[in-house]
Amino acid sequence: MIASLFPAFLTPTPLQELKDLPGQGHRRVFMKREDLRDPELGGNKWCKLAGHLSAARASGHTRLISVGGAWSNHLHALALAGRRFGFSTVGLVRGEPVMTPTLQDAIGAGMKVQFVSRENYRQRNTDEGLAELARPYGPAWLIPEGGGGLAGHAGITHLAAELDQQVRGDVLLAVPVGSGTTFAGLIKALPPRFQVWGFQAFHDDTLASRIAGQLPEEHVGAGWKLHQTPGMRSHRRLPALLENQLNSFEAEQGIALDPVYTVRMMAALGQLFESHIIPESYTVLALHTGGLQGRRGHGLVKAA
Ligand SMILES: Cc1ncc(COP(=O)(O)O)c(C=O)c1O
Repeated sequence: MIASLFPAFLTPTPLQELKDLPGQGHRRVFMKREDLRDPELGGNKWCKLAGHLSAARASGHTRLISVGGAWSNHLHALALAGRRFGFSTVGLVRGEPVMTPTLQDAIGAGMKVQFVSRENYRQRNTDEGLAELARPYGPAWLIPEGGGGLAGHAGITHLAAELDQQVRGDVLLAVPVGSGTTFAGLIKALPPRFQVWGFQAFHDDTLASRIAGQLPEEHVGAGWKLHQTPGMRSHRRLPALLENQLNSFEAEQGIALDPVYTVRMMAALGQLFESHIIPESYTVLALHTGGLQGRRGHGLVKAA
């Protein structure tokens, strides 16, 4: 259904084989190039937004409002998607007014950017709080932070079906995790031959229980695991370990990674390969969730 509205979903994104990763052994490892879904919108953001855009259109809304930080991949994708598909967009941005290349792009795509104090921003986590923040801008389809919510699952369900078609046998799917929406959506939609491992980009002790809370009972203790990642406590600067990881991955595999999510997942996955806890019989898929625009916040060019 998503594919009938958004042609980027008509063709599966490629699985690119990775070679000579540290500790890889005889395992076959592929990167699911979700970043290539669309040159402007690619990544898990577009997977989550596509469902919101189609629900907004079906309910007659012409304005989309969401929230995020000044470097938000989500607001960036929302602004570009709004421009392309004929919606006006409002981005409620956390904290003191600042200008970043991310927000410049969003404004350039027609998004109205409004800064919200950190205190008021805390309201965003409930439907009522988000509605209150968005009230001054009139009737609109509201999108929770990061593109979560039920409508956000339509594109993820599509991605799961694509993965199921693309690879046979036992699969270990590695997924970068922020809010956990993409991870939980994939756990729910994939068949049991997929083990889904999430790699949390930010330190958050409550994340595992919040993810479990989104899952139907049969998935609560089965088929998934949440892993911590190197550097998940330090986001101001890219730690040297991750900078090296990002540069060597790009040089060796020819794939640019984002400096927050996919790079942390690949660093942690490398450590797991070296500790031999992943059976060699599993095909490993690592999901590239895009976010390359965020490289500019770390002094890196947008993409290789
Ligand atoms: C590039 C990228 N990867 C992964 C994630 C994490 O997605 P989720 O919030 O669905 O866990 C995000 C979103 O925050 C992102 O921008």
